[in-house]
Amino acid sequence: MKTQVAIVGGGPAGLLLSQLLHQRGIETVVLERKTKAYVLGRVRAGVLEQGLVKLMEEAGCAERMHAEGFAHDGTLISYGEEIFRIDFAELTGQPVMVYGQTEVTRDLYEAREKAGGKIEFEVEDVVIRGADSDKPMITYTVHGESREIACDFVAGCDGFHGVSRQTIPIDVRREYEKVYPFGWLGILSNTPPVNHELIYANSARGFALCSMRNDNLSRYYIQCSLSDHPEDWTDEAFWAELKRRIPSEQADKLIAGPSIEKSIAPLRSFVTEPMRWGRLFLCGDAAHIVPPTGAKGLNTAASDVHYLYHALCDFYEAGSEEGINSYSEKALKRVWKAERFSWWFSSLLHRYPDQSEFDLKMQISELEFLRSNKAAQQAMAENYVGLPY
Ligand code: FAD
Ligand code: DHB
Repeated sequence: MKTQVAIVGGGPAGLLLSQLLHQRGIETVVLERKTKAYVLGRVRAGVLEQGLVKLMEEAGCAERMHAEGFAHDGTLISYGEEIFRIDFAELTGQPVMVYGQTEVTRDLYEAREKAGGKIEFEVEDVVIRGADSDKPMITYTVHGESREIACDFVAGCDGFHGVSRQTIPIDVRREYEKVYPFGWLGILSNTPPVNHELIYANSARGFALCSMRNDNLSRYYIQCSLSDHPEDWTDEAFWAELKRRIPSEQADKLIAGPSIEKSIAPLRSFVTEPMRWGRLFLCGDAAHIVPPTGAKGLNTAASDVHYLYHALCDFYEAGSEEGINSYSEKALKRVWKAERFSWWFSSLLHRYPDQSEFDLKMQISELEFLRSNKAAQQAMAENYVGLPY
């Protein structure tokens, strides 16, 4: 098989790139290791920056998002019984969109299928060959049958555990990592959200987050130990712990119910440099991971897609290699800003095992500064709604 851009990974980054390129007449093939049902079953991100909203519009996939998603003009931050609001609309003039990653992915799959886009599921043994030549090639197997794709470019959108990053020789790659000594236990439940906006909570018992998908679908997270397993946590234990971590006014009105999904995610900051090797470009979680506290993972994957999409359009439409040559540098500049924000917001809100009394005082002092200082709120809001591309 032959194509212009071979895309490894059918998560949100790979699908969005594929659909955007299709709109400009550039042909792609997407290779996905799992089934479509599996990809759509992974409950993850819920907050979209305007940059991603605009990309979904450009991809022709924004209709359901605008009908069913919720624009949020602010968020609440609590510490102990204290609570305050960051007003995104007033500080930045921009809202964020609450719309699940599963729905983004579903809309993109639907658009690709409608357009007759080529997506291969359940691919195994993907090997990217000749990425440092001008004739890259991908070999893989599907249900035991060997196949290959000759292409002009490879987009590595295969997440943190994919093969694309590993294809870049170790002596060319530099990796930066911070692993956090805790995880997030998340549940989804068919209950009305405790509040119409998100609540990020710092408490003596650890972090908690109250989020939602719609009027009768709530998403809650609590900081947990890395040795915990979802089965260790009954629904009752989860609700009781969540209520202890948010102000009593919120806890008293929280409606509990059976969980329909329960999972634990570890927290990590990770960046690999460069994000390009020859004709291979890394996009999204394949190149970087942020702790989820700032809601930046999917959004940073989208900003990579934005840069790569424009670079490839410039190549095919104007014969310019400028965008391709500057892709890694441009993408990384924004990636590091998202890394900084996610690291800062995580350190503001979690309990760390080695935190001293002094460190705790610093955390509260920083929260009080944020509560009272417009400039600090402005910086937080600009980062949260998304820095410009
Ligand atoms: P992925 O979603 O990981 O997709 C990669 C795809 O590649 C997968 O489908 C995988 O099966 C496939 N693949 C892997 N290896 C291969 C291979 N060898 N061959 C072929 N295919 C392969 N981000 C936000 O912006 N906002 C949030 O609110 C937010 N909340 C989060 C909450 C949690 C609990 C978690 C865990 C994450 C959250 N994120 C959030 C992060 C966000 O979910 C990820 O950053 C996003 O999924 C990255 O998309 P991606 O397409 O780069 O990678
Ligand atoms: C959600 C996840 C996040 O990591 C976050 O910061 C905000 C919302 C969510 O799943 O709804």
